[in-house]
Amino acid sequence: MKRYEDLSPSLRCIMTPGPVEVDPRVLRAMSYPVLGQFDPEFTDIMNETMEMLRELFATGNKWAYPVDGTSRSGIEAVMVSLIAPGDRVLIPVFGRFGHLLHEIAERCGAEVFTIEQTWGSVFPPEDVIAAIRSFKPDVVAIVHGETSTGRVQPLAEIGRACREQDALLIVDAVATIGGVPVETDAWMLDAVVGGTQKCLSVPSGMSPVTYNERAEAKLLKRKQVERGLRTGSDEASELPVVRSNYFDLGMLQDYWSPQRLNHHTEMTSMLYALREGLRLVLEEGLEARHVRHRLHERALVAGLTAMGLELYGDPESKLTVVTCVLIPEGIDGEAVRSMLLNHFGIEIASSFGPLKGLIWRIGTMGFSCRENNVLRLLGALEAALVRHGFAVSAGRGVQAALDVYESKVR
Ligand SMILES: Cc1ncc(COP(=O)(O)O)c(C=O)c1O
Repeated sequence: MKRYEDLSPSLRCIMTPGPVEVDPRVLRAMSYPVLGQFDPEFTDIMNETMEMLRELFATGNKWAYPVDGTSRSGIEAVMVSLIAPGDRVLIPVFGRFGHLLHEIAERCGAEVFTIEQTWGSVFPPEDVIAAIRSFKPDVVAIVHGETSTGRVQPLAEIGRACREQDALLIVDAVATIGGVPVETDAWMLDAVVGGTQKCLSVPSGMSPVTYNERAEAKLLKRKQVERGLRTGSDEASELPVVRSNYFDLGMLQDYWSPQRLNHHTEMTSMLYALREGLRLVLEEGLEARHVRHRLHERALVAGLTAMGLELYGDPESKLTVVTCVLIPEGIDGEAVRSMLLNHFGIEIASSFGPLKGLIWRIGTMGFSCRENNVLRLLGALEAALVRHGFAVSAGRGVQAALDVYESKVR
């Protein structure tokens, strides 16, 4: 009989745009005993998690809870619930994840209109606003932090324009939540989707979402109670029913409400993990957390440029938590990445589509975003580049980052 060894995964330094290293407190929470999903002890944990999520999303929304599944599950739940077949949907695309929103909107049966921005930059808000005025969408869906290009799209003006035009605004804040300001109410975002495995430093497997009364009003029109749970008072929906059962926010919110109407079996251990991740965020404080992410980005960028590397993309719209580096000419990017992983235990990311082979993407997110990780990566990258024949200014990278850390101005 074949024998299977005990699992013993390597301890990595993960500097990708997700998943990133998980705080030991979160890992510990995942080992706690499982509770039944209607146990009052467990439903109290659900309520507390909702409370903490409202703070994270900077919202007074009633609804803020996780969808079970990876971040794409939160995106898909929000889109399939808020986009009815035949709806007019505008998607501004400036990277891979904008294309994902496009694809999901098409699968929802929407009439989709896209505008595209060259990868490496973002939209001037007035371009999106002009498209909203001319296309008159029912829904606009946009990415906040685009991890494929390392850019961040300003949203406040777009939010205001959507409200004026009575369009619902859906935002993918998977990469930004917990690392970069996301102001759900102040920016008038109707539905926001976050991710666990990036700036929250919780493993992949849940996607926190929030949505306001405007969004709820729309999904209630499409609401249906599952056949086996119906009582005489349950009415039929006005609009075509949501085409997914698992991702129907109307059903999910019944489960997350005091009604606790049965839907899926909640992921107990993942919820413990999310709750602990949120507790860590709120203990640190959102603002302090944003400052920390900016500090380590500054040190990383100083180090990379001091060693002679060039950054990719428009500096004005750079996303704090993802730094994209042009792979120097003649250097095999994948060989350098393998060397970092195999000799130094450090993982950085490659890239997608048109950027494949052209850039590396380095994440400074959540628990991975710390001084020893940044310095270790800079030292290792210098060494790997020297090994691959790139004329790096050896020693300069780490020194430049240390200058940032030692300077009084934080
Ligand atoms: C901006 C953005 N949106 C959506 C996703 C999809 O998330 P997941 O892979 O967890 O489904 C990612 C994942 O990398 C992302 O970076």
